[in-house]
Amino acid sequence: MLLKYNIIILKYIFFISFFVILSLPVKSELDLSVEEIIKGRKALFSKNYSTAKRVQALASKDEFEKAKTLMIEMSENYKTLIEYFPENTKEGFKTEALPIIWENKDEFNALMTKSSNDMIQLTKIIETSDDVRSTLGKFMWANCKACHSKFRAPH
Ligand code: HEC
Repeated sequence: MLLKYNIIILKYIFFISFFVILSLPVKSELDLSVEEIIKGRKALFSKNYSTAKRVQALASKDEFEKAKTLMIEMSENYKTLIEYFPENTKEGFKTEALPIIWENKDEFNALMTKSSNDMIQLTKIIETSDDVRSTLGKFMWANCKACHSKFRAPH
């Protein structure tokens, strides 16, 4: 009898905890402050830059497996970066992002997605490429330039 009672109590505790956990707010990108978002995207771009240089160095030495892991990392970072340009982060904290980003958000996001997809494409073709340097130029570095020339302030 006592055992049955205990089990009922335990069931209640279990279900109540379950619903309390469900109702907790999910921490999303949007909860970040403007400062965290601008500094966060700068940090991600800087990281992608150093990763890109490592990709170049590794691929030039035929170390394709390591290079491919880093290419996938860059591809994921580009996808994350799309979330780092909400309307309220147009200015401040030394951002070099130009206002034209928000006037042409679809074009900007499409360039980010293309850059991400090109890194995946690169993992598939780099090993069999005749000219590693120019393949990296076309599928990796050209995307940086295409976006910066329109959407990032001259620095
Ligand atoms: C689709 C657009 C886009 C692509 C693609 C892109 N960037 Fe950028 N990048 C930007 C924008 C916008 C900023 C300015 C961010 C800011 O200051 O808020 C930036 C900033 C940077 C910065 C400066 C970060 C800082 O600390 O201020 C570096 C470095 C950089 N990018 C490197 C690269 C490299 C390398 C690539 C390619 C491998 C690349 N980016 C691809 C849009 C892009």
